[in-house]
Amino acid sequence: MSAKSTMGSESEVIPSDQLSTRHLLGIKELRAADIELIFRTADGFKEVLGRPIKKVPALRDITIANLFFEASTRTRVSFELAERRLSADVVNFSASGSSVSKGETLVDTVNNILAMKVDMVVMRHPDPGAAVFLSKHIDSPIINAGDGTHEHPTQALLDAYSIREKLGRVKGLKVVIVGDILHSRVALSNIFCLKELGAEVMLSGPATLIPRHIESLGVKVEHDLDKALAWCDVANMLRIQLERQGGDGIANFPSLREYAVRYGIDLARYRKLGKELIIMHPGPINRGVEVTSEVADHANSIILDQVQNGVAIRMAVLYLLAARIPRSTV
Ligand code: CP
Repeated sequence: MSAKSTMGSESEVIPSDQLSTRHLLGIKELRAADIELIFRTADGFKEVLGRPIKKVPALRDITIANLFFEASTRTRVSFELAERRLSADVVNFSASGSSVSKGETLVDTVNNILAMKVDMVVMRHPDPGAAVFLSKHIDSPIINAGDGTHEHPTQALLDAYSIREKLGRVKGLKVVIVGDILHSRVALSNIFCLKELGAEVMLSGPATLIPRHIESLGVKVEHDLDKALAWCDVANMLRIQLERQGGDGIANFPSLREYAVRYGIDLARYRKLGKELIIMHPGPINRGVEVTSEVADHANSIILDQVQNGVAIRMAVLYLLAARIPRSTV
């Protein structure tokens, strides 16, 4: 056991090989030591995932509920795979077809599931703050799998981990996050995570999609994408969230075509840079809008590495949070 430190508001002594939080509600509550512990733990699980038998018995006695009140492909499949690779029992819940449609509240829904002896909850919800709200009403560890426009902590962790894997470090790198910052939980979690790890962060996109006063988070803003790309080592191209724009879906810019011309990356714009820019995207991609297919599938695109690393990162988060469940309930 390594050195011990007192962290967080719980005033308990937490070993430095444990997370300082009981839940993962957002990156904002994590310190660099937590993120580095998650990365070191994920390194071990990545090695496991490369074996012929990709499974360990670490969470054999744990039952995890995946509660998805909003659509997901990557996050949902990734969490379920991570849980099964750790030998946890898994129960999946979707709001559609459930008693939520009969008016059942979030707290009642979750408490009924927990009454069936579930130990941990992974939740995606359309409302910002839903995971924080739930954490005030239930005792089990909660992992926020994306809450509205607020945070998506495991996405930011797998993004930073993928940068570290590709470039050997995060500290000192320059990362530009491009596009729909206004509606993006990925942007906020990435800003907190990259800043905590010592990267420089710039935001680029139309003024209508960049919140006013966002510089107060310690980021630069550059509306000219070509200048932003010339500055950075890594470009994280965010999806235009058509479902959150309001109106006809493109209330904040004239057309998808104009957005693609000004804020998308095609091969010509990429080649003009004359450098090995790393391309990222959290998915799902609007091909031809944020990036063209040639750029999404380019040798310097790490989009599928992000997806692959998501399983190891989520295994690490689940494992470390399960370690903080009192032994009597495990
Ligand atoms: N990146 C991401 O959260 O994708 P899904 O919405 O498919 O989970």
